[in-house]
Amino acid sequence: MVLASAPAKVILFGEHAVVYGEPAIAVAINLRTTVAIAKGKNFTVNGRPIEDKFHRYIKNSIDLLWRGDPLEIMTYSAVPSSSGMGSSASITVATVSALLHLNNALSEENVAKKSFEVEYITQGSASPTDTSTVTHGSGVLVSRKMNENFLWKIEKNGVKWYLHHLNIPSLKLVIGFSGIKGNTAMMVAKVRRFYRWNSFARDVIKEIGKITLSAVDALNNEDYETIGDLMNRNNRLLTILGVSHPKLRAMIQNASKYSYGVKITGAGGGGSIVALTDEQEEVAKAIEDAGGVAYIVEISRKGFIVEG
Ligand code: MEV
Repeated sequence: MVLASAPAKVILFGEHAVVYGEPAIAVAINLRTTVAIAKGKNFTVNGRPIEDKFHRYIKNSIDLLWRGDPLEIMTYSAVPSSSGMGSSASITVATVSALLHLNNALSEENVAKKSFEVEYITQGSASPTDTSTVTHGSGVLVSRKMNENFLWKIEKNGVKWYLHHLNIPSLKLVIGFSGIKGNTAMMVAKVRRFYRWNSFARDVIKEIGKITLSAVDALNNEDYETIGDLMNRNNRLLTILGVSHPKLRAMIQNASKYSYGVKITGAGGGGSIVALTDEQEEVAKAIEDAGGVAYIVEISRKGFIVEG
C-alpha cells in the first residue's frame, strides 16, 4: 500500500492573468488531502466503483499513469471542494505522486508536470500554478522568464510558464469560504471571452501582471503594508474581470477593517477570499459575520509527501 498527501493552496497574486502568461504568486497551506492506494480486485474509490462523474481527477490520473492491476483508493480531504483553495490540485497531486511512486518514476518535476496534464484534461483549460504549488509546497512564483530559484518549465498551446521557488515570510493569512462552490472552468472561460473581445480586459490582465511583480519585492522586504495594498489593487481588477460575487464582496468589506489587504483568491464566482492581517481572530469573526466560513491557515513548507 502507498500513502500520499498534498496540501491546499492560496493564490496571493495573479489568478486568471497567469492563464495568459502573466506572473502569479501562490503558497501552499496547511490543509491536506490524503490518499491510500492498494492493489485490489476492482477499481474503487472509498469502497464504490470509480466513476467519471464523481472521481474525475482520480480517474484521469489513473488513465494517464496506470497500466497495472485494479486499485482500491481511499481518500480523506480537509480541503472544501470548489472553494478556490485548490481541492482539485490537492487530490490530483496526492494521487499522481502515489501512482508515480508505484511506477518507480517519482520526482517533484514529474509530479508537477503529470498533475498539470491531469488538471488540463479534466478542466479543459488551466495554468500550472495550482498543481506546481501543491507539488512543491512553500511559495511559488510563476513567470514568463527563467529567474533564480527556477524549478521547472511547463508549456501548453504556445504559453510557457517558468515555475520558481519563492521565499515567503511567515504570513498571517485567513481564508473566507463563501460556501458557494466556484466553477474554475466556467470562470476561466468567462474571462477568456472578455479577454478575446475587449482590449480593456487585456490591459487589466497586464496590470495584474505588474502588480504581481511588485509583490515579489514587497514579499522579499516583508513589507506588509505594501503587500496588502497590492492585494487590494489586484482585487479591484479581478472585480472588473467579473469574477466577484456579492458574498465575496461582503466578506472582503468586513475583513478589510482588520487587514493589510484582502482579495478574491482562485477562480472566484463564489469560492474564497484571502486576508493578510495581524489580527487573525478578528478577521475570522468578521468573515463569519458576513456569512462565510473562516480558516486561519499557515504556509505549508511541505508539498506532496509519499510514504511507501
Ligand atoms: C484557479 O485556482 C486559478 C486560475 O488562474 C486558473 C488557473 O490558473 O488554472 C483562475
